Amino acid sequence: MARFSPQFIDELTTRADISQVVSRYTRLTSRGERLWGLCPFHGEKTASFTVSPDKQVYYCFGCGKGGGVIQFIMDIERLEFKEAVEFLAEMYNMELPQEENQKLVSIRKRILDANRLAARFFHEQLIAQKGGEVVDYVRRRGLTAATIRKFGIGYAPADFSLINFLKGKGFLDHELVEGGLAKRGERGIYGAFRNRLMFPIINVKGDVIGFGGRVLGGDGKGPKYLNTGENPVFYKKSNLFAYQMAKKSKSNKIILAEGYMDVVSLHQAGFDYAVASLGTALTEEQAKMLAKSADEIIIAYDTDAAGTAATERAVKILSQVTDKTVRILRVPGGKDPDEFIRTNGAEAFERVLQKSEEQMDFRLASLKVGADMKNDEDRISYIRNAAKLLSELGSKIELEVYAGRVAEAAGVTRDAVIAEVQSIRKKRVRAEQKKQHADDISIERQLQPPRDLGVRYENPMAARVEEDLIALVADHPELAERAAKQITREDFTAPALATIFEQVVRQIRETQSFQPAILQTELDESSVRLLSRILAADRPHQDPPRELEDLCRVLRKGRSTDGADGEDPLMRILQMKSKPRDGG
Ligand code: GTP
Ligand code: MN
Repeated sequence: MARFSPQFIDELTTRADISQVVSRYTRLTSRGERLWGLCPFHGEKTASFTVSPDKQVYYCFGCGKGGGVIQFIMDIERLEFKEAVEFLAEMYNMELPQEENQKLVSIRKRILDANRLAARFFHEQLIAQKGGEVVDYVRRRGLTAATIRKFGIGYAPADFSLINFLKGKGFLDHELVEGGLAKRGERGIYGAFRNRLMFPIINVKGDVIGFGGRVLGGDGKGPKYLNTGENPVFYKKSNLFAYQMAKKSKSNKIILAEGYMDVVSLHQAGFDYAVASLGTALTEEQAKMLAKSADEIIIAYDTDAAGTAATERAVKILSQVTDKTVRILRVPGGKDPDEFIRTNGAEAFERVLQKSEEQMDFRLASLKVGADMKNDEDRISYIRNAAKLLSELGSKIELEVYAGRVAEAAGVTRDAVIAEVQSIRKKRVRAEQKKQHADDISIERQLQPPRDLGVRYENPMAARVEEDLIALVADHPELAERAAKQITREDFTAPALATIFEQVVRQIRETQSFQPAILQTELDESSVRLLSRILAADRPHQDPPRELEDLCRVLRKGRSTDGADGEDPLMRILQMKSKPRDGG
């Protein structure tokens, strides 16, 4: 097996930005120079998972998993190195180096070919049924022949007919397993979908990339829906069910439903702009797809608790990727769109659609559910939570309008609501400042030498600059004389560092070179270890003479009597540069 060239891996890891890739699996928020989120590898309620965009690494302080972007994919998708590289290359539309590429192209093509034949096979099976369980089921769900044809809905029998058919066409076991049509058993492969109603999932190019298979009736075997797993042609997070049809619709709207059956029913009722995600929560990519293909996005999830939570999440993701109108449609009677249309018809659904609400109305309304406005506690908590939502609004006019509505619902004045919003905003700013301060303190702590070294810096930020000077001179002995001319003992805040500096300069003067081992005799043990630590740190120098001048200027500042030292912009730059950036 040919290995990937370092250039290819380099290019891949450059393009596959780790924060972007990780964001597909867990929500990250930035704090300082790092991003934090809930660890996708172990269950947790507070974020101990961190990504450093600088060093392109992740690390979890909870479970200890960590590494670069390829390792992340290996961990989270449970892939081998090679597969993880291919997975990322696919994600970023990168062509694999020739040999690898051909192999992957051919497996992709084989899976797509097998899927197309399988879809046709399933469809013909369904049409050929003259009666029995599946025909009853299809009738019960009200699917017309035209809909079955349009969606290519099919039936997967519980026998080996599909496997035998595809093997007869020359497909190999591993191709069928990799594409998710078959599973490996003790005595060879068998069909992954057995006795299920099959919904082919088709991408915009018209390729059948996977299937969703529903059990017939109530107590079938296994999960209600079985979906094709991720494979080289099926990437759940960047496809939507029926997107290829909705894209062609004349409507400027798009309806996002929860289930395949909802979508099928909606199309059958004339709403040919409905789509669903593929059994997972809405992703950022899917949100972008929705925004790209319509001016108005209508979320029509189930009205149960899970559906409401999913709606909240979808609204958030959509508002992050688009300014387009997002409306929420709530099907009356605790039903999903499919059931609603089955009992009330298409026109009734059209009326509900007309009444779908702007997202803020929806979110405010869901706060009111279960709250008793005659009860003061309920009222106060409603106003508080509503104000929290309103504090996210960017526009003043919107704030005025919605604050008016909240005021009316809670029986207070609009000014009171606006005042609450402003106080929340103020608190947020203060909390951010406090956090920034805490971050600064923890950075200072990280700049301190390890405790067992027995050295404490009084001013860690300044000490960092002093360390930088020592490292620079050690790396570039030719600069020692210039440094010694400008800097004396008094410019150092850390006496230990001043001594080290003097010794380094002295040795260079005497021997024209720098050999840290020799200083062993001149310095005490803790200084030797401190020096090793300074030399071990990775401090690349781009333009040594200029850096020397910069460092000297900063260090001499401490001497000047004209005050205002802390505000020197150069000082700030150096302080930023000298923050530790390791991923833990
Ligand atoms: P029915 O009307 O009962 O056929 O289902 P539905 O179309 O109303 O879908 P439902 O709201 O129950 O589920 C929404 C979506 O979640 C489905 O279309 C599937 O993609 C997915 N889903 C539902 N049940 C399962 C399951 O048991 N396993 C998996 N993997 N996905 C499921
Ligand atoms: Mn349903």
